[in-house]
Parts: sequence; structure tokens; C-alpha cells
Amino acid sequence: MDSVGHTYQAGKKQIHALEDIDLHINHGEFVTIIGPSGCGKSTLLMIAAGLELPTAGEVHIGGHKVTGPFTDSGFVFQDASLLDWRTTLKNILLQAEARGMDPEHAQQRARELMDLTGIGGFEDVYPTELSGGMRQRVSICRALLHDPPILFMDEPFGALDAMTREQMMLDTQDLWLHGDKTVLFVTHDIGEALVLADKVVVLGPRPGRILKIYDVPFPRPRSMDTLGEPTATEMQHEIRELLREHGAF
Ligand SMILES: Nc1ncnc2c1ncn2[C@@H]1O[C@H](COP(=O)(O)OP(=O)(O)OP(=O)(O)O)[C@@H](O)[C@H]1O
Ligand SMILES: [Mg+2]
Repeated sequence: MDSVGHTYQAGKKQIHALEDIDLHINHGEFVTIIGPSGCGKSTLLMIAAGLELPTAGEVHIGGHKVTGPFTDSGFVFQDASLLDWRTTLKNILLQAEARGMDPEHAQQRARELMDLTGIGGFEDVYPTELSGGMRQRVSICRALLHDPPILFMDEPFGALDAMTREQMMLDTQDLWLHGDKTVLFVTHDIGEALVLADKVVVLGPRPGRILKIYDVPFPRPRSMDTLGEPTATEMQHEIRELLREHGAF
């Protein structure tokens, strides 16, 4: 991502959401983006996925300039965005229908993913009958169905209670450790950003600019206990101070 900026045109008003974002992500890296509400995190993620085209700068994936939706990826939204009139399995299979995947193969893969993410047995249940955490798991299965090399996740656990969030975080780590995926993950939570990431990108208030990029050195698998280690405590403190200095809260 080179010198990326974005200005929305909302009627006569212009909203300058992002400015001068230079970000390089390596294959297989887990990168988290953290910053205050409204600083342009979702905008940045959508631009990276080609769902929004930047008004300045360029995005390249694997050497190719992104000029439209980057289809070889999966996207997990903040709310699970499930269709209430389709069963869990059929929600996951939406991805297969959109891509014209072989139905039998897709169904087998969907069932495998459901087992892997701990929602096996809930194939014929409707989304309204699931807990928030389970709905998010369905959404993650849908994003992974076509085995994309890149996964974009926009505050996927933001609406969940602390205990479920912790479990989802550890499960996401497992999924990533057992795969070969590049993940770009937006969060409000400094701890979550540190437990998951190889690299934490800290954005300042709107228009979002990169304040600092931290390399996260802790060995994996990590847990919430990792956050209790002195270096981790120090990093959390530093990120909080950096955000405060820039008026994030
Ligand atoms: N489609 C749009 N049209 C006009 N303005 C928009 C649009 N989408 C976002 N914005 C504005 O751009 C700014 C950045 O929005 P964005 O959703 O990227 O922030 P965010 O960091 O993801 O916030 P949050 O943490 O609350 O999700 C905000 O001021 C928002 O009002
Ligand atoms: Mg957002």
C-alpha cells in the first residue's frame, strides 16, 4: 500500500478518512490495525480488499495493482451479516454459489470447517437460534470456504462478551497457525492486537495516519497470559500513551 489516502464525498461534504498510508504486508503475516473509532480502519480494510478504491495512492497484491474487488480473499464483517432465512450451512454455502464452486465439494468443505470451528452439528439451525459467538463462527467459515490466501477481518469479535472473545481469539490463532494465510485484522482492543499479530499498525484519529508499526516478538502459541509478560505490559502501555498523545481518547 503506497501513499494511500481516501476522501469520501458525502453530499456536498467531504470526509477525509485516511492520509498517506504506506504499509507493506508479507505473505503469511498476521497484521492487526488498531485506532480510535472513526479513524478510517474499516476504510483501510475495504481499500486493501479492493471493495473501495482509494482517492490517492495505490494498492498492490502480489505485484498486481488492485483496481476492483480482490476476489481471492475472504471478508469477515463486524456483525456476522447472515441471512436469517437460510440455515447455517446454507449461509456458508452462499460463498460457493457466488463463486460457482462444485456444490458437493463445497458442502463437504463447509462441514469440515464447521467441525474445525466448533459448530459441527448446527448445520440445519437458523442464525436467530445461534449465540453471537456462533454466528461469528459461521461468518468465518463462509469467509474461509474457498480457502483464500488472504483474510480480511473487521472487528469480528467486537460485539462479543469478554469470555467468548478470548476463545474466538485463541481459535483464530489456531486456524492461522495451521494454515498459510495472510490476515489483516481490525480491532479496538490493544490486548487482542498484541496476542494475534506479527505486526500491529497503530492509526491516529481521522484522517487516519500510521503513528507507528510495532513488531510483536512473543513466541506462539500465545494466550491472554502473554499479555502479563513485562515486554507485553510495556508495549500495551506505550500504545495507549501513543494514542492518548494524539488525542485518540
Ligand atoms: N460510505 C461513506 N460515505 C461517507 N463517509 C464515510 C463512509 N464510510 C465511512 N465514512 C466516514 O469515514 C470516516 C472513517 O470511517 P471508518 O468506518 O473507516 O472508521 P473506523 O475506524 O472503521 O470506525 P469504527 O471503529 O467506529 O468502526 C468516518 O468519519 C466515517 O463517517
Ligand atoms: Mg469500522
